[in-house]
Amino acid sequence: MTNTLITKDWWKDEVIYQVYPKSFKDSNNDGIGDLNGIREKLLYLKELGITTLWICPIFTSPMIDNGYDIADFEGIDPQFGTMEDFDRLLLEAKKLDIKIILDLVINHTSDEHIWFKKALADKNSKYRDYYIFKEGKEKPNNWRSIFGGSVWEKVPEEDCYYLHVFDKRQPDLNWENPEVRQELYQMINRWLDKGIAGFRIDSITFVKKDQDYSSLPADGVDGLVSCKHKTRNRPGIEVFLNELKKETFEKYNCVTVGEAPGVAYEEFSDFIGEDGYFSMIFDFHYADIDVESGSDWFKRTNWTTKEFKELVIQSQEALQNAGWGANFIENHDQPRALSKLVKEEFQNSEAAKGIGAMYFFLRGTPFIYQGQELGMLNAQRTDIKQFDDISSIDNYYRSIQEGFSEKEALDFVNMRSRDNSRTPMPWDSSQYGGFSTHQPWLEMTKEYPDIHTTDNSVLGFYKEMIALRQHSELHEVLTKGAIDFISEVPENVIAYTREWKNEKIYVLTNLGVNKEKVNLPKAIEKLYLVTHDNVVSGQEITLAPYQSILFK
Ligand code: NOJ
Repeated sequence: MTNTLITKDWWKDEVIYQVYPKSFKDSNNDGIGDLNGIREKLLYLKELGITTLWICPIFTSPMIDNGYDIADFEGIDPQFGTMEDFDRLLLEAKKLDIKIILDLVINHTSDEHIWFKKALADKNSKYRDYYIFKEGKEKPNNWRSIFGGSVWEKVPEEDCYYLHVFDKRQPDLNWENPEVRQELYQMINRWLDKGIAGFRIDSITFVKKDQDYSSLPADGVDGLVSCKHKTRNRPGIEVFLNELKKETFEKYNCVTVGEAPGVAYEEFSDFIGEDGYFSMIFDFHYADIDVESGSDWFKRTNWTTKEFKELVIQSQEALQNAGWGANFIENHDQPRALSKLVKEEFQNSEAAKGIGAMYFFLRGTPFIYQGQELGMLNAQRTDIKQFDDISSIDNYYRSIQEGFSEKEALDFVNMRSRDNSRTPMPWDSSQYGGFSTHQPWLEMTKEYPDIHTTDNSVLGFYKEMIALRQHSELHEVLTKGAIDFISEVPENVIAYTREWKNEKIYVLTNLGVNKEKVNLPKAIEKLYLVTHDNVVSGQEITLAPYQSILFK
């Protein structure tokens, strides 16, 4: 790998496409996407212009959390194929100059992992200390897990509990045990030796827990308190993350993308600075603008476009001061951006392009989540039984417990469900969207028959954006250029410049539902991208709702 990826910060030049394997393409028609399906679509991805694929977990798993519950770090789940299929995918992607990064889930395993099975079977086995077991008749404290209920699960026939920050079938690994860390590092290095280009690192800010394990005042009617206060980005984590980097990533010229919720802007330089733990991190401050916390969907906010704009600006400024960002508006845990960020009557392909351009040209590496390039919308479901995602089911019942009606609970879940973005990818307007000939594991969205028939497609626009960033005369300024935000614009317009050497380009987006007049700092010399068909030229322009332009 080191031969082909010679430059140190090669990942700054990438456009990364996220694949949720279960829903991308089903090659063997069992209703579930797979590795050969991804391979079938490599040419599509090449034509789109992306350069790296991030594939969500493909490892052996009981799929309680769709693969984020790993039973064997080095086995491929049969639903997705075999290791030979993976090797073939890696090879064929390489021929097309597409790199592959995998999901690294090392905060927890599945309860079906051999370490956990041995830990449960024998309290004297060394594997007990691979996880966090606490002896006692009562639960050690009142922490609530991310997917609801206590973080503690009783060990059958023992006065003992084990800790799980996520589902009870996802026991947390004990990072305090050096042997556990060494096992993980060796596994990581074996994957890197295989030739993958790096990792997206799951829930990595959860690996350090406060060792007092003390209760806190409850924050819900269940008498529990979010475990985040005691398990996320806690003091001492720097020791683990520095060691992780030193023992693994640093030895390779690989990319590492930290999923790092709970990191304050002031701490960004520890994470992504010159000697930071990772190449880049996802910042969730603006992604989670619609809810008070990413795991309590009934705590909705009345966010405004002005607040959204301010959060994007703060996030970009913090990323620029510290290092490099991983820019995104969608992923497998988030609703579709068009549904979340755009008012209902404007949820069309023009607005999908508008918000696409807004984030795509920010400073950092752009990530595109499968289907985002089609301008997909959330799915609307009418019954909680139609959901697969554990977090959706938990949020539904917890909302009711908090006093909301069934309808309100369903509304919260429809708006936020992780199943919104996990619906199978529609490749054409045939039955099941060409995803499979078998009924898919999760229902498609209602929009799928029409999504490929729009003129002026969102897909074409994404191709244009990628080509502009990767292959045009603007390549350097769009990848290396500094970002600056322009404050003399209307409240609902976000405007920034990217500047590199003598080149300066402008990106403006109207984030609101009204037309906005903007007096530009200079007249438009050359318009590179425009998302709506109204004419924009000169120095005084009017932007349509959700319109973006890019010019110099
Ligand atoms: C974050 C992942 O993105 C999410 O899908 C998963 O459920 C949790 N981490 C637990 O691994």
